[in-house]
Amino acid sequence: MARGIGAHLNGGYKVIVNKSTVPIGSGDWVRMIVLDGIAERRKALVGAGGPTVEEPIQADFDVVSNPEFLREGSAVYDTFNPDRIVLGSNSDRAIQLMKDLYAPLVDRSFAEDTNLPPVPVVVTDLSSAEMVKYASNAFLATKISFINEVANICDRVGADVTQVAMGIGLDSRIGKKFLQAGIGWGGSCFPKDVLALLHTAEDYGYEADLLKATVSVNQHQRLVALEKLQQELKILKGKTIGLLGLTFKPDTDDMRDAPSLTLIEQLNRLGAKVKAYDPIVSQSGLRHGLTGVIVESDAAHLADGCDALVLVTDWAQFQDLDYAALAQRMHSPILIDGRNVLDRETLIRAGFQYVGIGH
Ligand SMILES: NC(=O)c1ccc[n+]([C@@H]2O[C@H](COP(=O)([O-])OP(=O)(O)OC[C@H]3O[C@@H](n4cnc5c(N)ncnc54)[C@H](O)[C@@H]3O)[C@@H](O)[C@H]2O)c1
Repeated sequence: MARGIGAHLNGGYKVIVNKSTVPIGSGDWVRMIVLDGIAERRKALVGAGGPTVEEPIQADFDVVSNPEFLREGSAVYDTFNPDRIVLGSNSDRAIQLMKDLYAPLVDRSFAEDTNLPPVPVVVTDLSSAEMVKYASNAFLATKISFINEVANICDRVGADVTQVAMGIGLDSRIGKKFLQAGIGWGGSCFPKDVLALLHTAEDYGYEADLLKATVSVNQHQRLVALEKLQQELKILKGKTIGLLGLTFKPDTDDMRDAPSLTLIEQLNRLGAKVKAYDPIVSQSGLRHGLTGVIVESDAAHLADGCDALVLVTDWAQFQDLDYAALAQRMHSPILIDGRNVLDRETLIRAGFQYVGIGH
């Protein structure tokens, strides 16, 4: 792609913007490849009787790193309501051009709340902008792994992680977001970005111990629901377990590195029958990567004959299910709330034995 850009660059000044999450140093690498493309074009032109080798090539350009922070399922909202805009380049000219381009977003022209102060623009060098992207996602993943670790300690000492999260989240230095304990993070971005940062650190001779712990806590966290099922049901062989949700987070059909996949694999290994209902996956017919699980068309059919349900994805729809009716259809009405989103008292009134994470 960059070589192709180089081969076609002509006319006036151009800015090449890198928005993807790319390994640190990619901006300079893109620059090098674009220059290679330009050199190839020069060679071709010289061969075809064009400009002589000595003539300068009309290709005046800069590379800018402009990482995006869009969440899957909220990309349009996030585009118009950014927390910040990061621009990485060593060229003042390129930065000014990017600032002009972003002016309407900075002024919140399309924002939900147009009275907010302008969006901060953070100007950095190329590598720092690339690092901002990795560090943001790694920090968020670490924050989730942190509260999950606290939840596991809460489980053992009899504290309630939801109350603890409220207590620590109101500290403005910590903040309330991303402190919902559960069965861990997944998706296409957090796993990939945390590992990429870890490997970059290794490439440069640094052991990123905290990032390693972030990943290993997350791997263990996916098994917490399994441990709770074993505590409640003892032997899982021959038991039927129903999963509420399959996608890695709500409002998406994405199952990449979803905690549900780990659960399905482990439940299969232990000889349990696994069923699942997911508001999107059940309707869409998407079954890619799904083996060892019966996908049901609704929550009622999911509950039929189950020994336990596990809430895996915090879909808003799961708040409104008729849990009393679901309990009636189950073999034993046990619910493991893998996202701590259901109301314990309501579930108990509906006839369930309710088990949360870190409660
Ligand atoms: N989605 C994309 O295509 C894409 C592309 C490039 C970069 N990114 C970046 O990746 C980041 C992650 O995007 P995403 O789409 O994976 O979604 P996200 O930030 O909504 O969710 C990521 C993970 O965090 C968990 N999570 C969300 N809120 C939580 C909370 N309050 N407590 C505990 N866990 C919580 C989710 O379950 C999910 O596993 C974005 O912020 C963006 O910077 C995303």
